[in-house]
Amino acid sequence: MSDIEETRLAVIVGGGGAIAQALAALWCKDPTLRVVVVSRASPPMPNVQSLLTDYSEASLLAIASTLADLQMPMSRLVITNGVLSGDAFSPERKISDLNVTAFQHVLAVNALLPLQVLSAFWSLIRHGAAPRVAVLSARVGSVSDNRLGGWYSYRASKAALNMMLKNAAIEAQRINRQAKFIAYHPGTVDSPLSQPFQRSVPKEKLFTPEFTALQLTEVLNTAVADGELSYVDWAGETIAW
Ligand SMILES: NC(=O)c1ccc[n+]([C@@H]2O[C@H](COP(=O)([O-])OP(=O)(O)OC[C@H]3O[C@@H](n4cnc5c(N)ncnc54)[C@H](OP(=O)(O)O)[C@@H]3O)[C@@H](O)[C@H]2O)c1
Repeated sequence: MSDIEETRLAVIVGGGGAIAQALAALWCKDPTLRVVVVSRASPPMPNVQSLLTDYSEASLLAIASTLADLQMPMSRLVITNGVLSGDAFSPERKISDLNVTAFQHVLAVNALLPLQVLSAFWSLIRHGAAPRVAVLSARVGSVSDNRLGGWYSYRASKAALNMMLKNAAIEAQRINRQAKFIAYHPGTVDSPLSQPFQRSVPKEKLFTPEFTALQLTEVLNTAVADGELSYVDWAGETIAW
């Protein structure tokens, strides 16, 4: 086998985020990977190809076509997109904080967008080389783990995401039995997303994006294609649904 045939595609969607950037910085050191980040805007990085998108269906399909043209099987796909708060909204503390526009935005970015990416990239998964597909979820998406309440939109978006990933994992078995899907909780990571909520987090429980990239890579490397969606945390521990 020639060198070019051994190279695998590693695609990171939401590439401008803190976790995504740390993953790209780690993976670009691996000569067997061709690392591509897909984002609205991401800073240039050596040995990383950047593809810009507005996450519209047309744009995602065009990116899928560009990736297919590289003629390298995809072995890793990580979708990192997510929002928790914004200029005009914060996570709900109580039900009366509900804001329909904010709810729809959080659901659109956290649940619908990853599904749109999977739909557009389905052929890359079909032709992938034992593709490991990880989508950044969160422990607060667990229904059984919900003891505190609050954060209606974010919790709902990650629970919906988990269900859709379960569906996709089932369907993926029909097109590539070596594919493996993972709904991943990274722990609390120092990033723009978590920044407004870090005050109550003990220092040792606030992970760096670099640590997160290492942990997620380990989870991907050790995942077994068993036809199931794994819902796991940064330590590789299973999270109850
Ligand atoms: N940080 C934590 O403590 C923590 C904990 C649990 C779960 N997570 C999950 O981990 C993932 C990555 O978070 P992070 O900590 O790396 O946060 P981050 O640095 O704020 O990155 C946010 C990501 O979301 C994307 N995004 C934001 N607004 C968007 C919009 N309107 N439309 C499309 N994409 C949008 C960005 O994509 P572009 O590159 O296109 O800008 C970026 O990739 C999220 O799904 C988050 O829910 C994080």
